[in-house]
Amino acid sequence: MKIPRRAFVGSSLAAIAGGPLIGANSKSGNSKSGSSARREADASAKPPLVISTWPFGKPANDRTLEVFRSARSGLDAVEQGVRLAEADLSNPSVGLGGIPAAHGVVQLDACIMSGPGHKAGSVAAVEGFKHPVSIARRVMEETRHVMLVGEGAQRFARERKFEEGPAVTPGQKSAWENWKKAQEAEKAKAPNHDTIALLLLSPSGDIFGACSTSGWGYKIPGRVGDSPIIGGGLYVDNAVGGAGATGIGENVMRYCGSFLVVEFMRQGMSPTEACLATLHRIASMDPKGYDLSINFIALDKRGRFGAAGTGQGFQYSVACDDYSKVLQSPGVTQKPVGPLGGNRL
Ligand code: GLY
Repeated sequence: MKIPRRAFVGSSLAAIAGGPLIGANSKSGNSKSGSSARREADASAKPPLVISTWPFGKPANDRTLEVFRSARSGLDAVEQGVRLAEADLSNPSVGLGGIPAAHGVVQLDACIMSGPGHKAGSVAAVEGFKHPVSIARRVMEETRHVMLVGEGAQRFARERKFEEGPAVTPGQKSAWENWKKAQEAEKAKAPNHDTIALLLLSPSGDIFGACSTSGWGYKIPGRVGDSPIIGGGLYVDNAVGGAGATGIGENVMRYCGSFLVVEFMRQGMSPTEACLATLHRIASMDPKGYDLSINFIALDKRGRFGAAGTGQGFQYSVACDDYSKVLQSPGVTQKPVGPLGGNRL
């Protein structure tokens, strides 16, 4: 029997890691095991095609497609998709509903990339603004810089009359107060966190991406994760494809994780293979081995898409003209990730 090359390489990579290639469930209610799930992990779709991290990426994907169909602008589409996630105050990992930093104020990181022109904009540690992804876009379009942080980014946003919001939601404030008390009693447990990274391939073959997060809950104020770092939490190369990351940013940004995924695709790997190869590369160099809590999504210029994580259960969302669904990615260790990301376990 002839084994398709992609499935064989994927299986081999997983075997090296000692873990199964792919899990069984998708949020859409489909139960997928073994070969059908494997095919899906290396599936392709006709653009416009959107993929994003986590099940909460599904409504963001749908919004991205809706905007793309009406405006025909890839940048408008990815920006509006990510804005939907940022506006959801029940999401503890993205937007002003996020878990605050240790001083009790939410600090947001975001970036946006355009494949055409290889343009990028980014903001970090922004307090009190609802839509950091839109501020990042204005940095890209209206300045000669790529990244603004903290007070400078806030001044830039205020001058452009960006919508302001609360320092922290009431629910997160009371959770923070409990965390403070527990911390004083030395019982604080570091929370996990997750991120929306979203990629769009247009019918003309152009690629756009955006990424947004409130970052590590109760982080040291001023801490910046991978999400606003071009090549860390997001990377787009219009000749090859795009990639995005979620999980502990410190374990992504030290390795230029999303850039590496795209470089592996340039060498001929499929998106899933490239995500797996990046995880293996990082684990081979990192003192923590595979104990990294990181996940990648990727799509290539041909409309192939995939994802992989260091643990079991990382789900990502895919939408195109024919469907919109949540898929399961392969995990390279048995450690559970949970379908909704660390902050919702
Ligand atoms: N991946 C998001 C962060 O580490 O902030």
